[in-house]
Amino acid sequence: MTSEAIASRTYPRFAVMLHWIIAIGVLVLLATGAYMVGVPKNTAARGLYFNLHKSVGILTGGFIILLIIWRSRHRAPELPATMPRWERTAAGWNHTLFYLLMVFVTAFGYLTSSFSAYGPKLFGIPLPHWGWDDPALRGRFADWHRLVAWIFAVLIVLHILAALKHLVFDRDGVFQRMLPERRSRSNDPA
Ligand code: HEM
Repeated sequence: MTSEAIASRTYPRFAVMLHWIIAIGVLVLLATGAYMVGVPKNTAARGLYFNLHKSVGILTGGFIILLIIWRSRHRAPELPATMPRWERTAAGWNHTLFYLLMVFVTAFGYLTSSFSAYGPKLFGIPLPHWGWDDPALRGRFADWHRLVAWIFAVLIVLHILAALKHLVFDRDGVFQRMLPERRSRSNDPA
């Protein structure tokens, strides 16, 4: 596979940047989320982790909205012709599910906070409550938030394994689609 063939199939810089910002945000959220629920209640540490989690979640949510807007106006670059049909279908489903899970996990997180006494906050700044202090509803949204977050985590593992398969075994340039363009390409006449 020539570098030109790969270059013609890479995502633009803006989409690559959003992908990696969201990827880092989601990994931080999975880690802080899993850890913070085990921190003893009514401690400063728990408040700190919850506020960090909510703030990173809301920021990541903003980038997710940008990605959805970008994706609704642009097509994904072509996949290599060598990629089998089942793999294209699996990738398509995985990506569609990713979008749904990203929206739902963020919305359920925000709703969990909205129905608690503490409310959603962005680095200490209170944001609009979509609800009121209601422990039963909060618990229900927390259950859904947890369920969606862990389904998302399983799909992320599959996504990473698939990307590594392309990098190590297939070597078809699919992995490189989501990397920033290499400097040498800036010499290409454009
Ligand atoms: C991509 C976005 C997000 C991911 C992947 C994520 C992930 C997680 C995870 C893994 C947990 C722990 C679940 C458990 O095992 O008990 C959690 C809990 C929590 N998250 Fe998120 N989160 C996200 C966004 C948000 C947002 C935007 C908010 C609020 C503004 C939020 C608020 C919460 C709260 C309040 C809990 C504790 C729920 C409980 O008390 O059981 N999350 N999150």
